[in-house]
Amino acid sequence: MDRPVESADDRGTVLTGTSVEGPTRVMVTGAAGFIGSHLVDALLERGAHVLAVDRRPPGDVTAAVNLAQSIDHPCLRVVTADLLTADLDELVSGVDTVFHLAAVPGVRTSWGPQFTDYINSNIVATQRLLAASGTAGIRRIVMASSSSVYGETPGPSREHDPTGPISPYGVTKLAAEQLCLAYAARPDVPFSVVALRYFTVYGPRQRPGMAISQVLLSALNESPVPLYGDGHQRREFTYVSDIVAATLAAATADVRAAVINVGGGASVTMLEILGLARDVTGNPVPIIHCAEQAGDIPATEADLTLARRILGYHPSVDLRDGMALHAAWLASLPDEQRRSRLLGPLEATR
Ligand SMILES: NC(=O)c1ccc[n+]([C@@H]2O[C@H](COP(=O)([O-])OP(=O)(O)OC[C@H]3O[C@@H](n4cnc5c(N)ncnc54)[C@H](O)[C@@H]3O)[C@@H](O)[C@H]2O)c1
Repeated sequence: MDRPVESADDRGTVLTGTSVEGPTRVMVTGAAGFIGSHLVDALLERGAHVLAVDRRPPGDVTAAVNLAQSIDHPCLRVVTADLLTADLDELVSGVDTVFHLAAVPGVRTSWGPQFTDYINSNIVATQRLLAASGTAGIRRIVMASSSSVYGETPGPSREHDPTGPISPYGVTKLAAEQLCLAYAARPDVPFSVVALRYFTVYGPRQRPGMAISQVLLSALNESPVPLYGDGHQRREFTYVSDIVAATLAAATADVRAAVINVGGGASVTMLEILGLARDVTGNPVPIIHCAEQAGDIPATEADLTLARRILGYHPSVDLRDGMALHAAWLASLPDEQRRSRLLGPLEATR
C-alpha cells in the first residue's frame, strides 16, 4: 500500500504520494441523479465497467431520463439500492474506484423535517460506504462535497480557509467529507480519498428546482420565476462536463487525501443570470420578487489553484455557452416533461 510522502499541504488538506491506475471497475453512487448520470456516461465512454447505484426506484421518470443514454450499454450494471440499508460489502466487492455522489442535496429543504434524510443519506450512508470499502480492496474514493461547507467568505474560497456552513445541508456535506478524510488517515485503510467541493453545477438534467434550470424554463415558457433577495447574490456556476472532467481526474490524481474546489472560473450575480437567460432564449424572464432565504450565502467563488495543480483542471465551458446548451436541452424535452420541471420549488443548492 502506498503511504503519503508529503505532509499537509500549505494550501489545504493534501497528502500526496498515492497515484492510482485509471479506474476499470467502478461504482457510482447517486448514478441516476443529475451529475452521477453524466459521470456514468463519461466512464462508459472511457471503457470502464460501471456499477450504477441509486435508490430511485425502477421506472422513476428522472432516472429514466438521466440514464437513457447509457442504460443499454453492455458494461453498465444498474442496482437500485439505498446505501443506508444495502449490503455494501457485496456491492463494493471487485470494484477498484468508488465515485460517491449519492446525497440528499438542496439547502432550503434541509431546514425542515426532511433533515433526518440528510443525516441518513449524507452522513450515515457515507460512513457505511467507507467502512465497507476499507475491507474490499478499493484503491480510490472520490466524494462529491460542496461549496456549502464554506459559509460566508470575503473573497475566493481556498481549501484551507475555515469552514462554516450556514445551512444544515452544508453541515452534512462537511461531516461527510471529514469522514472520508478520517478513514483515509487510518493506517489500516487501503484506499485514498479525494473530496471535491463542487460549486453550483448546471447543464442538461440539472435538478428542476435549481436556479438556472428554473430561470431558463421560465424564459422558455414565459412564466414567472421567483427572485430571492435583490438579485445581487453571486454564485460560481460550473458546467456539468467540467465537473465530470475534474471528477475523472480525481480518480487518478497523485494524492493520499485531498479536498479540492471545482468551480466554473467566474462568479456572477443572479441578475446577470437573468440577462443571460434572456440572451440565450431570446425571451424575457418574468420575475416575482421574494424574500431572501435562510442558508443562502451572499456569494460563492472558488480559488482553483489546487484544482489546476493536482487535477490539471481548467474549466472549459463559459457560462453563456453552457446556458445555451442547457436551454437547448430543456427545449428538446417533450412538453409534459418540461412543464413538470417548472413545478419544482426553487432550491439554493451548492
Ligand atoms: N448540483 C450541484 O450544484 C451540487 C453542488 C455541490 C455538490 N453537489 C453534490 O453532488 C452530488 C450529486 O448532486 P446532484 O445535483 O446530481 O443531485 P441528485 O439529487 O440529482 O443526485 C443524487 C442522487 O443520489 C441518490 N441518493 C440519495 N440518497 C441515497 C441513498 N441513501 N442511497 C442511494 N442513493 C441515494 C438520489 O436518489 C439521487 O439520484 C451530491 O452529493 C451533492 O451534494 C451538487
